[in-house]
Amino acid sequence: MKICCIGAGYVGGPTMAMIAHKCSEHTVTVVDINQARIDAWNSDKLPVFEPGLDEIVAGARGTNLFFSTDVDTAIREADMIFLSVNTPTKTYGVGAGRAADLRFIEKCARKIAEVAEDDKIVVEKSTLPVRTAESVKRILESNSNGRKFQILSNPEFLAEGTAMADLEAPDRVLIGGDQTPEGKAAIQALVDVYATWVPRERVLTTNLWSSELSKLTANAFLAQRISSINAISALCEATEANVDEVAHAIGTDSRIGPKFLKSSVGFGGSCFQKDILNLVYLCEHFGLPEVASYWNGVIEMNDYQKRRFSRRVISTMFNTVSDKKIAVLGFAFKKDTNDTRESAAIYICKDLLEEQANIAIYDPKVEAAQIQRDLGIDADNQYVTYCKDAYEATKDAHAILVLTQWDEFQALDFQKIYDQMQLPAFLFDGRNLLDLEALREIGFEASGIGKG
Ligand code: NAD
Ligand code: UGA
Repeated sequence: MKICCIGAGYVGGPTMAMIAHKCSEHTVTVVDINQARIDAWNSDKLPVFEPGLDEIVAGARGTNLFFSTDVDTAIREADMIFLSVNTPTKTYGVGAGRAADLRFIEKCARKIAEVAEDDKIVVEKSTLPVRTAESVKRILESNSNGRKFQILSNPEFLAEGTAMADLEAPDRVLIGGDQTPEGKAAIQALVDVYATWVPRERVLTTNLWSSELSKLTANAFLAQRISSINAISALCEATEANVDEVAHAIGTDSRIGPKFLKSSVGFGGSCFQKDILNLVYLCEHFGLPEVASYWNGVIEMNDYQKRRFSRRVISTMFNTVSDKKIAVLGFAFKKDTNDTRESAAIYICKDLLEEQANIAIYDPKVEAAQIQRDLGIDADNQYVTYCKDAYEATKDAHAILVLTQWDEFQALDFQKIYDQMQLPAFLFDGRNLLDLEALREIGFEASGIGKG
């Protein structure tokens, strides 16, 4: 089979690399309109950092995995076309700030209608509002000229930083499609692709709408757990309970489970917030204001958690951070990725810049130009510096903020760091990553999230 994927981003690239790696009998071409991104996929420095990705791409690229900007040819030749374009929150017009912006998906559907010469299976890989397949189908069918299109929903559940492990051994693969004989045949064609390496019982098939809605629901449930434990972290701080102990105590109940209960400075990433906003918008659209408001609380709690952290930093540091050097360790939204989309670090740094702090940022994978774009500042901004390591960032600093849980931060020589800081040396661990007792023994005024 010839497979094409439109969109060579964090999902399209790794997902298609895994399919090519596992299914040598299929040819996979990933296309994008972004020339620089495609050039990077064809180079030694891939545009996405994911542990294990380089090796898989190197093994398949040029054999049965190709990256190209020739969208038309790839569509024309393909039997199956994945849509893996971005679906950000709309910033304009009706639903601005909440609804998903579907213009990229619609452009793909129109492009397929324009250039396809024979029947195609079109697979929604992007995260989409429930019933989007209806629109995609209408665009394709209105322009079909006798060609037949089957639409499938196959949402992606990988998490960044563990994408390759998640793709290699997914908890489940979800495929939704029409329950007609043609729809079922299309579902089977995609089941066969995944069944090459995923145990058959982990490949779930549903109708289109259940599949589309399950993706938004999964992200809403995951984010809800983080907001729930973060809400409790505020209560822990008021009562001398320890949120890590509470999380462990409740997580041993098999009905609750231990995962996704790590209290933090707030969840980030490109999807949780946008997908919940989208869910909230959909609920309102379908006349369900109580359901909308329930899920909106997850976002409100996350905003509160980020704001609460910056306020605590400022109030602890004698209510002023003006002219003080603050070392920010970690800028990515989580460890093991270079992605900064919606990272809590962006919000915290902006709050501190408003207070005229000098911030020195170190992240092992995020480049200075990305940080400048995120903070909306020029390269010569005098308040922000970019450091080559944690020691440079913390030299002469008044405070350290740990905002990403990079493993290397646990191995730092904190005595050496303390010795080169201004006193009192404050440390705010926004990830509950470090041993606060050991830091206090050195002399740090150290605090975490949800710890007394
Ligand atoms: P991304 O922004 O990294 O990549 C999307 C790519 O699509 C971009 O390179 C863009 O240039 C390209 N594109 C847009 N319109 C195009 C067009 N008309 N023709 C060709 N290329 C086009 O986005 P992403 O993080 O890969 O996310 C893609 C989708 O997957 C989103 O719907 C997202 O919600 C979902 N998702 C993301 C993750 C994740 O971890 N990032 C996980 C699961 C699902
Ligand atoms: C998340 C989901 O986990 C994926 O299943 C989903 O496919 C993806 O969104 C998506 O649709 O884009 P991702 O955002 O890459 O994946 O990473 P997560 O591991 O979910 O972390 C999200 C944020 O929550 C990070 O900022 C992380 O540090 C934070 N987090 C996570 C916590 O604060 N506490 C936790 O216990 C877990």
